Amino acid sequence: MNSRKSWWILFIISLCVIVPFMAPYFLIDPEKSRIQISSTSIQYPTLISHIFFAFIALIAGFLQFVKKIRSRYPRIHRMIGTIYYTSVFISGILSLIVIFYIENFSKVMSFLVLAILWIFTTIKGIHSAKKKNYNAHQIWMTRSFGITLVAVSGRVLVPFILLAYFLLNGLHLPGGRERMVEEALNVNIWVGLLINLIIIEWIILKRKVD
Ligand code: HEM
Repeated sequence: MNSRKSWWILFIISLCVIVPFMAPYFLIDPEKSRIQISSTSIQYPTLISHIFFAFIALIAGFLQFVKKIRSRYPRIHRMIGTIYYTSVFISGILSLIVIFYIENFSKVMSFLVLAILWIFTTIKGIHSAKKKNYNAHQIWMTRSFGITLVAVSGRVLVPFILLAYFLLNGLHLPGGRERMVEEALNVNIWVGLLINLIIIEWIILKRKVD
């Protein structure tokens, strides 16, 4: 499959996965939130803003991998790049506040590691571009965008994690369905992050070898 086709497939899958998750927040009504809201003055507005800027980062990130824009319109590439990294920083910092309201420790740690890696890889990407090391810039931005996509993979993986839970418990559901879903949502970001990081490093290595 050529890279243009895979780009389109990944783009469409990402939108199909993330937009329904964003939908309950379009109404800006804390009652409609899928996540339990304990503070309407801090947690909810922060969550909404996180989602808004994360979505901009997702779209801008996809546009940065369009070869035509990169090679023919470097100014547009730089402009979208600025939108990408500004959105990552704003959304990443806001997510650090949202994390405070999560109760499960494994889930807290997964989002914390995700946010730190998101910001770190993006800083490395900007830094290498400023030093005109475009090879390193491409590598770090690929890592940064791969981490952005954990928002997609973490959600796509949930049905597989549910299946693994069911199978590993000998086709039983100790604690019922609710506990199974809760357990899956406590680990899905870890699983998504690990898989995305392996895929990203594989892509980077493959590019080097080719
Ligand atoms: C990669 C770094 C990211 C971090 C660290 C992060 C962090 C978080 C956190 C902590 C929550 C609250 C979860 C909870 O309380 O259970 C959340 C929710 C959410 N985030 Fe992000 N996020 C990231 C990327 C993204 C991206 C790229 C999008 C795409 C638009 C996104 C969209 C959402 C949505 C829609 C929710 C609400 C989920 C729901 O209702 O189930 N996030 N995020």
